[in-house]
Formats: sequence, structure tokens, C-alpha cells
Amino acid sequence: MAHYKELGFVNSKKIFKKAVDGGFAVPGYNFNNMEQLQAIIGGCAESNSPVILQVSSGARKYANETLLQYMAQGAVAMARKDLKSNIPVILHLDHGDTYELCVSCIESGFSSVMIDGSSKPFEENIKLTKKVVEYAHKHDVSVEGELGVLAGIEDEVSAEVSHYTNPDDVEEFVKKTGVDSLAISIGTSHGAYKFKLKPGESVPPLRFDILEEIEKRIPGFPIVLHGSSSVPQEYVEMCNKYGGNLAGAVGVPEDQLRKAAHSAVCKINIDTDGRLVVTAKIREIFSKKPEEFDPRKYLGPAREALKELIIRKNKEVLGSADQA
Ligand code: G3H
Ligand code: 13P
Ligand code: ZN
Repeated sequence: MAHYKELGFVNSKKIFKKAVDGGFAVPGYNFNNMEQLQAIIGGCAESNSPVILQVSSGARKYANETLLQYMAQGAVAMARKDLKSNIPVILHLDHGDTYELCVSCIESGFSSVMIDGSSKPFEENIKLTKKVVEYAHKHDVSVEGELGVLAGIEDEVSAEVSHYTNPDDVEEFVKKTGVDSLAISIGTSHGAYKFKLKPGESVPPLRFDILEEIEKRIPGFPIVLHGSSSVPQEYVEMCNKYGGNLAGAVGVPEDQLRKAAHSAVCKINIDTDGRLVVTAKIREIFSKKPEEFDPRKYLGPAREALKELIIRKNKEVLGSADQA
């Protein structure tokens, strides 16, 4: 068993309190490879932002779970030694779906896990989440639970109400499970196609009324927003210009995320935007320099573009810059 404290990570307790009190959100950035990790740590160190390094079960399978753990450990060492930065770093399991997976991550040094029982009936979600909390808290590891199902691509602009988190459920869920933070559904969704818009239509606003109702039921409790990429159109256009096909890709407008970050939302998850920027940049280089075949010559600029995006998001959207 490798305990996260020995590896240089922290749990989410202190930083979530600071985020809720200070009206900002801590970024949860996903990584699967070295360049993404370098960009995330580099961007957060440069903007002096706390960071949540997110690993999905897919990432663990793709990159090898042992390697990922050591990469994250190495990223902390790089921040301290080479970047001279003391930013808090949380290593977090994103969308854990079983008790066993959460235990495995905790045993390999994760300081935070998400148990996503949101697709299960309410009582089953409580039972599973509580079981994970009981194990995690013995090791001082934070747990994120989820209530409400994030919508997929909707046929109509208005998402189905049944997918949203029911404010009547949150108090009981939080009390019975003992979770440290709660992911909710207020109109965001995963991926690059969050809303299907007809010509001339604009993105519908997030359901801030539901968020406010939830805040009333569990005042000051840390809330998490998944599916919060804004899918910058400049990068969608860059992808499409250089041979991609991402027609109709659209995300959550940044002003809405900024508004959410000022509320009890203290963690905002971003994965798609990173994938988009990296792909757009690589496509551009492949197209402009077809003779190039040294991976450093296209992964390097992609990494730099991702780092710049992260710095801008931390400063202008999440408000996490200079909050480390
Ligand atoms: O919410 C899901 C994250 O974007 C991770 O995606 O399961 O493809 O690694 P993934
Ligand atoms: P996006 O697909 O909007 O980046 O959401 C990522 C996420 O929620 C990871 O858990
Ligand atoms: Zn998610």
C-alpha cells in the first residue's frame, strides 16, 4: 500500500473549503499521457492554481495503472524541484464504478476517488457510496459521489428534466453516505456535442435554479460539475480546417462556468477541451509540415497549446489562479 501523503498528494478537504469560501472552482483535468500531464502541471504551476489530476478507468487501462501512478508522483516532484511550485495536487479517480476499483486506487496512492453510482437506483447508490466512504475515510481519502444523470446528446435543445439532480434527494444522500463532495446534473454533459442546436439557436442556460435549490438544502457543501468543457470554437474550426470532422461540436459557454464557479461549485471537470486542443494542433502541424515525423515536433506544440488553454481557464473561467 502506497499512502498518498508519502507521494506528495493532498486530499480535497482544505482546498474545497477554500474554494467554496473564496468563490472559485478547482480544476479537475484528465490525463492519459505524458504531454497532457506536463501541460496540466506546468499550466497550474505557472498560474499558481491547485489542481486535481483525474484518472479514469479507461486511462488506467490505456497507460497502465502502475505507470500512471508513478507519472503523477513524478509530476509532483517536477512541480516542486523544477518549477519551484508548491501547488496542492490531488490525485483523483474519475467515474469509479465499483468498490474494488476505488480500493485499488486508494491502495496505489490516490488521495481522492469518485464513486459514480448515479445510474443506480437511489438506495443502491447510497449503499455503494457509503461502502466506499467507509473504506476511504479510514485512509483519509476524499470521496465524490454523484446524484442525477448527465444528459447525453439531446435531440431537442431542452434536456429531459428527469436527468437533473432532484434537490429533494441531496440532503439524505449526503447525510447517509458521508461523501465529501457531490457531483450534480444541471444541464452539462460529457463530450464535444453537448447541445444539438438548430440554425440560429443558442446554447440553453444551465439550470442555476436547481443549483440554488441544492445549495439551500446543503449550505456550503462542495458541489462538482462534470461535463464542463466549453469546446472552444477556434479549435473546432482548426480541426475541421485541417481534415477533421467535428461539425456541430458545442460546449458550455464560459460565462456560465464562471457563474457556477462563484457558487458552491468548487470543482469543474474538463477533459474534452484538452483532447480538442491537442488534436487541432497536431492536425495543423501534420497538414503544414507533412515532412515532419519526430513526435516531439508535433506533441511539443500541442502540449504548449494545452498549457496555454489551462492557464487561461484557471485565470478567466475557474478563478483558481493564485489560489494555491
Ligand atoms: O468523464 C469522462 C472523462 O472524460 C474520461 O473519459 O473514460 O474516455 O477516459 P474516458
Ligand atoms: P468534458 O467531456 O466536458 O470535458 O467533461 C469531463 C468530465 O466530466 C470528466 O469527468
Ligand atoms: Zn465526468
